[in-house]
Amino acid sequence: MYLSKEELIQHISTKPFRLVSEAAEELGVEAYVVGGYVRDIFLCRPSKDIDIVTVGSGIVLAEKVAAKIGKGASLSVFKNFGTALIKTKSFELEFVGARKESYSHDSRKPVVENGTLEDDQNRRDFTINALAICLNKDRFGELVDPFEGLYDMEDKTIRTPLDPDITFSDDPLRMMRAVRFATQLGFDIEPETFEAIERNKNRIEIISKERIIDELNKIILSPKPSIGFDLLDKCGLLSLIFPELDALKGAETKEGIGHKDNFSHTLMVLDRLAATSDNLWLRWAALLHDIAKPATKRWDPKVGWTFHNHNFIGERMIPGIFKRMKLPMNEKMKFVQKMVLLHMRPIALADDEVTDSAVRRLLFDAGDDVDELMKLCEADITSKNPEKVRRFLNNFKRVREKLAVIEEKDRVRNFQPPVSGEEIMETFGLPPSRPVGELKEIIKEAILDGIIPNEYEAARILMLKKAKEMGLHPVK
Ligand code: CTP
Repeated sequence: MYLSKEELIQHISTKPFRLVSEAAEELGVEAYVVGGYVRDIFLCRPSKDIDIVTVGSGIVLAEKVAAKIGKGASLSVFKNFGTALIKTKSFELEFVGARKESYSHDSRKPVVENGTLEDDQNRRDFTINALAICLNKDRFGELVDPFEGLYDMEDKTIRTPLDPDITFSDDPLRMMRAVRFATQLGFDIEPETFEAIERNKNRIEIISKERIIDELNKIILSPKPSIGFDLLDKCGLLSLIFPELDALKGAETKEGIGHKDNFSHTLMVLDRLAATSDNLWLRWAALLHDIAKPATKRWDPKVGWTFHNHNFIGERMIPGIFKRMKLPMNEKMKFVQKMVLLHMRPIALADDEVTDSAVRRLLFDAGDDVDELMKLCEADITSKNPEKVRRFLNNFKRVREKLAVIEEKDRVRNFQPPVSGEEIMETFGLPPSRPVGELKEIIKEAILDGIIPNEYEAARILMLKKAKEMGLHPVK
């Protein structure tokens, strides 16, 4: 974790820092690189966005740097915020003047005054995000770490620089950020900071859904997302931002029969999936695969607990959840819906004998997403019985092998019927009508059941035969 001054200098010896250094010198102002970029140097994480703070005008410094870069720089100035952004092909630099900031209680609109570097560091979210490295010539590479952020990084601790009640009330999103950093980095939230989140949790309501979902997605994309969801649950934020997930908690027992706690099961599935896929939407599907279990839970004296149709109801709950959370209502949502709808199919299949026809149908329904679906299903095996796990995973292996063979042979993934509706209409002189749909369906079913191959000739012969049975005759 510790880096000597020489090593730090190495990290900031690239062109963007040199240019800022020169420009600051010419203007006679202090300039520092701050925030996430500095943190990530010490944590050896890749980082792209560089934040520069100057004790002066961020816009004036940015203009000077942009002039030095010349043609390759695009400069955007945000006068209202006193910030500026330089984009080039290889880096992005954001400039801001050091500020003393306090936020009014009922909005995120800050009351801003010019301040010192210390004022600026005071108003940052966490000690690990409040480090600065000086870029001025005579202090180039000097680390300014007033809150022992370096120590907290070594100790793997998330802590606010000021009284956490102040830091969180300045920007309540920081409560989500604390959980997000703890999840991404595998750090602990220091107890007083955590207690402040519990106290201030209701303030999350003034934060826009877009900012909340950004943090939630980062939690979901972390190596072990369950850390974040457990923390959200413990501090009380979960029921506020994601009541459907909160409702999965708990396990009821009746007549000595219990069901599993669907919250911890869901988190286990998500963690298992995270080990094999970094597809955000597949991870969302893992999070939502059992979301309708509370709504469908019934006690049946003969069989115990049942959750009939939880996949169908779950599929239907998704648009409401996505809309409220401001998640995209497009093909990404449709993908999540499809995964939730189909998540039990491969298990049911692996449970019995794996027939060609069942595999063909799975391939037909899942289309190009069949590999993602298999990953989700494999992650869904969370039984504590190793023999059961072994059996299921083995059966899944057989399903996958069969999928490959049938895919090669029948090509029913993204199935297009070999005889089209137009051809049926033309052959029998029919307008768009029910018999056309029925004939198409008969052909599709015959192919999926393996009665005929997925080929034109066979499909046409079947069409003629079935049409005759229906009393239809070719017009020519
Ligand atoms: N910051 C803050 N409060 C916030 C958001 C940001 O104090 N609500 C400060 C922190 O010092 C942070 C810096 O602004 O390091 C940059 O914020 P951002 O780019 O959002 O996050 P990073 O810390 O860079 O982390 P990441 O890139 O992973 O989002």
